[in-house]
Amino acid sequence: MTEKDFILESYPLTLSSGQYCWSSPSNIALVKYWGKKEEQIPENPSVSFTLDACKTTTKLSFNKKGGLDNSYSFSVTFEGAEQDNFKPKIQTFFERVESYLPFLKAYHFEIETSNTFPHSSGIASSASGMSALALCLMSLEKELNPEMSSEYFRRKSSFLARLGSGSASRSIEGELVVWGAHKEIPESSNLYGTKYPFEVHNNFKDFHDTILLVDKGEKQVSSTVGHKLMFEHPFADERFKQGHKNLSKLIKIFKNGDLPSFIKIVESEALTLHAMMMTSHPYFILMKPNTLKIINKIWEFREETGLYICFTLDAGANVHLLYPENQAVQIYEFIKNELVAYCQNGHYICDRIGFGAKQLPI
Ligand code: DP6
Repeated sequence: MTEKDFILESYPLTLSSGQYCWSSPSNIALVKYWGKKEEQIPENPSVSFTLDACKTTTKLSFNKKGGLDNSYSFSVTFEGAEQDNFKPKIQTFFERVESYLPFLKAYHFEIETSNTFPHSSGIASSASGMSALALCLMSLEKELNPEMSSEYFRRKSSFLARLGSGSASRSIEGELVVWGAHKEIPESSNLYGTKYPFEVHNNFKDFHDTILLVDKGEKQVSSTVGHKLMFEHPFADERFKQGHKNLSKLIKIFKNGDLPSFIKIVESEALTLHAMMMTSHPYFILMKPNTLKIINKIWEFREETGLYICFTLDAGANVHLLYPENQAVQIYEFIKNELVAYCQNGHYICDRIGFGAKQLPI
């Protein structure tokens, strides 16, 4: 599919008001997206586990405007309070998606949003937040075009979510989602995320992700700034090639359930992401001393027990611990006894693989 396929033939705006509500999860990348071209096109393909507990719920209410008002009109509340500081991001999103959603200027929108995870947890809400908003807007487009197929609905939701935040394109479906064209994955696209199409071994079913909140502050480097660091980065080309290769390797690993090889790729991807930040201009160290202490503890524990726990990181200090369901009891004991001490105020979140976004009754 190309961009043009996401523009429907003009349709009448037969609805004057209404409401939709969606809850959409966060996701954690195994092969990382870091570096993009114009229009939110990723430099390399990425793959992620969709999460279950960390999610955003967004209710969108709309009312047709009277007169010839040719601007976007919306209000935003977050957890019940007006949030004008969310507005610029939504304004930019509306500008980027307007050519695909011709009704945007015809309605006034009330966007009410909340997260299941604490706002100041250092967990990015852009993936869950932008995907939830894209889904609400697609519910409106579907009601105006009732013959729309569910596949088109999902693809366009992911396409729009991508224009809000790249990683949001991977939050529509579960359990494993690929975003970015990869030669061995049919249907994979730079424009939207697709469900991973091949066999996945039982070892990866019900995988856990326990998120250790090492530093709950505001992100030191926003993702917009972060991706730009890959322009003229001395190692960028190699890194983008490596993203493709690691995804090829994961295809085999997902099939044969080889957890030691899975761990090598996932941890290397996390450290490479941070290596890119440490070797860009300007350069950043986003790990904190406790991030490193946790990583070393994991390596010692794995050496001693042979259990398959590994870590991944996003663009911050928090640590995502990934481990299989059948070892969860022993590993959770280790987390509680040995790792929680390194979390800010002892805070962590128990999450696991999930199945994607859900529409909620109003
Ligand atoms: C490190 O999706 O937040 O989490 O497209 O600028 O909104 P924008 O970036 P964003 O970048 C996420 C980067 C990452 C890796 C990943 O999720 O693949």
